[in-house]
Amino acid sequence: MQYPDYRPRRLRANEHFRRMIRETRLSVDDFVHPLFVVPGKNVKKPIASMPGNFQLSVDQLVKEVKITRDLGIPAVLLFGIPEKKDEIATGAFARDGIVQRAVTALKDKVPDILVITDVCLCEYTSHGHCGMLRGTDVENDPTIEVLGETAVSHARAGADMVAPSAMMDGQVTAIREALDEADFDHIPIMAYSAKYASCFYGPFREAAESAPQFGDRKAYQMDPGNGDEAIREITLDVEEGADIIMVKPALPYLDIICRARQEFDLPIAAYNVSGEFAMIKAAANLGWLDEERAMMESLLSIKRAGADIILTYFAREAARFLSKGSR
Ligand code: PBG
Repeated sequence: MQYPDYRPRRLRANEHFRRMIRETRLSVDDFVHPLFVVPGKNVKKPIASMPGNFQLSVDQLVKEVKITRDLGIPAVLLFGIPEKKDEIATGAFARDGIVQRAVTALKDKVPDILVITDVCLCEYTSHGHCGMLRGTDVENDPTIEVLGETAVSHARAGADMVAPSAMMDGQVTAIREALDEADFDHIPIMAYSAKYASCFYGPFREAAESAPQFGDRKAYQMDPGNGDEAIREITLDVEEGADIIMVKPALPYLDIICRARQEFDLPIAAYNVSGEFAMIKAAANLGWLDEERAMMESLLSIKRAGADIILTYFAREAARFLSKGSR
C-alpha cells in the first residue's frame, strides 16, 4: 500500500464516501446524563462553571429526567447534596437521604430510564473526603463497609445500578457482598476503576459542594503518571465482580481507555468530566471554538478510544445533535 497506487484521499472526496467508510459513530445509546439533586422544593440553581447544569430539588429533577428520557438517553447518574454533612457521612446511607428520595421519585414518575447512583462519601462528609478519617488519613476498611451500606440503601430505593467512585481498596467486593446479602444480587456495579486525582473535577466540586476541606485526594485517587497501575486497578475490580469498568477523566486519559479495551472484555465506561465540559463551554463562549463540533469530536474520540458508555454533561446536546441526522 504505497503512493501512487494507494491514494487515501480517494475515499475522502465527498461526504458519501466518508459516511461509507466511517469506523466510529456515536449513538444516543452511548450516553449517561449526570445530575445533581438537592433538598427543597422548586430549586433549579445554575452551576456557574457548568452552563446548562443545575442543582435540582426532587420535583425539578423529575421534570429534567423526563426531558432526558424523551431524548432517548438510556440512563442518568445521580449525585446528592444532603441537608447536613457530618464526620461519618450519615446522609449517604440514610433511608430517607437525598439520593434515596430522588431515586424513589424517579422510579415512580419516570420508570422508563435507568437510574444509576454514584456511591461515594465526599458529598456527605463535613471534611469533604471520600471516606471516614482517622486523623487526616482516610481509613480504608471502615469506609468500604459504609460504601456497602450506601449501595444497599440505593438499591432499596430502586436504583438500577450503583457506581462506586471512592477509590477505596476492596470497595467492589464490599459492595457486591452487601448487595448480595440484601437480596440485590441482580443489581450491577459500574466501578470507577481507574479514577485519577485530576484537576478536571474542579467544576463538579462546585456543583456537588464536595471539595475536600484540607489536603487533596492523592492518597486514594490515582497518580496521573501511571498507566500500568490502571490495568492493575481494573484487574482488581474485575476480580471483585465489577460488571462495567470505568476510566475517569476521559479526554486526558484516552490511552488508558484504549489499553483497557485491549486487555478487558467487559463493557467500558468513560467519564467526560466536568472540567472537560467546562473547557469547551468556556472556549465556545469566547468564540474560540465551535461548541457543537468540539463536543461531537470529543465524544467521538472517547468512543474511538474504546469506550462503550460515555458519562457526559453533553448527553442532551449530543442527543439533539444526533437526532438532526446527516452527520
Ligand atoms: C465523587 C466524584 C467526583 C466526580 C464524580 N464522582 C469528584 C471527585 O472525585 O472529587 C467528578 C465528576 C466530574 O468532575 O464531572 N467522588
